[in-house]
Amino acid sequence: MEGKVSLRFALAVFYYSFLVGVHQVRTVSGGDTTPPTIVCPANIFGYVREITQVMTFTWSNPTVSDDSGVQPTVTTSPNYPQPTGTFDFGTYPITYTAEDGAGNMASCTLTINVILDTQPPTFTGCPDQRQSLVPSDSDSVIVTWTEPVGSDNIGITNTERSHRPGDSFSLGVTQVTYTFFDRAGNQASCIFSVNVTGW
Ligand SMILES: *[C@@H]1O[C@H](CO)[C@@H](O)[C@H](O)[C@H]1NC(C)=O
Repeated sequence: MEGKVSLRFALAVFYYSFLVGVHQVRTVSGGDTTPPTIVCPANIFGYVREITQVMTFTWSNPTVSDDSGVQPTVTTSPNYPQPTGTFDFGTYPITYTAEDGAGNMASCTLTINVILDTQPPTFTGCPDQRQSLVPSDSDSVIVTWTEPVGSDNIGITNTERSHRPGDSFSLGVTQVTYTFFDRAGNQASCIFSVNVTGW
C-alpha cells in the first residue's frame, strides 16, 4: 500500500517535471522563429502634367499569413490606416510590416510613383489637304487617307478623331482633327482639311 502511493508520487513528479521540461525546452529554443509571409501589391505609377496636380490611389492590402495560423499584426510606415491616399508628384515608399505573436517580423514595400510629364505627344504622317471632287450624281464623296501616328515619351493613351478614312464628305472645306493624349493628359493635334468641290 505504502509502496503504491510512493510509486504514484514518483510518477506524478516525473510527469510534472516532464511537462516543465517540455515547457522549458520550448522557452529556451524561443518557440516559433518562423517569420510571417507578407506580399505587397504591385508598385503604382501615375502621371501628372502640372506641379499642382494631385492623384488619389486606392490599393489592396498586402497578403499576410503566418505558420501559427493566427493573422499577424500589420503596421505601415508612414502610417496609412486605409490603403488609399492622395499624392502630388514624387516617389512614396510605404512599408508594411507583419508581426506574429512570437515577435517574428517580415516586411514588404509598395512604392507609389507620381511622375510629372509636361512633354506633349508628337505625331508623324499628318496628311496634307485632301482635294476631292463629288461625283456628278451626288453631293458628297468618300475620302480616304493614311492616318497619322502619335508617339510619346510616357505613352499615348487615347486618340480622338473628328473623322475616319472612308467617311463621306459634302461640298466645301471640312477640318479633320486627330488629337493624341498621353498618360499625363498632355495633348497634340494634327489638323488637315478636306476640300470637296463640284463639277
Ligand atoms: C478648294 O478647292 C478649290 C478647287 O480646286 C479651290 O479653288 C479652293 O481654293 C480650295 N479651297 C481651299 C480652302 O483650299
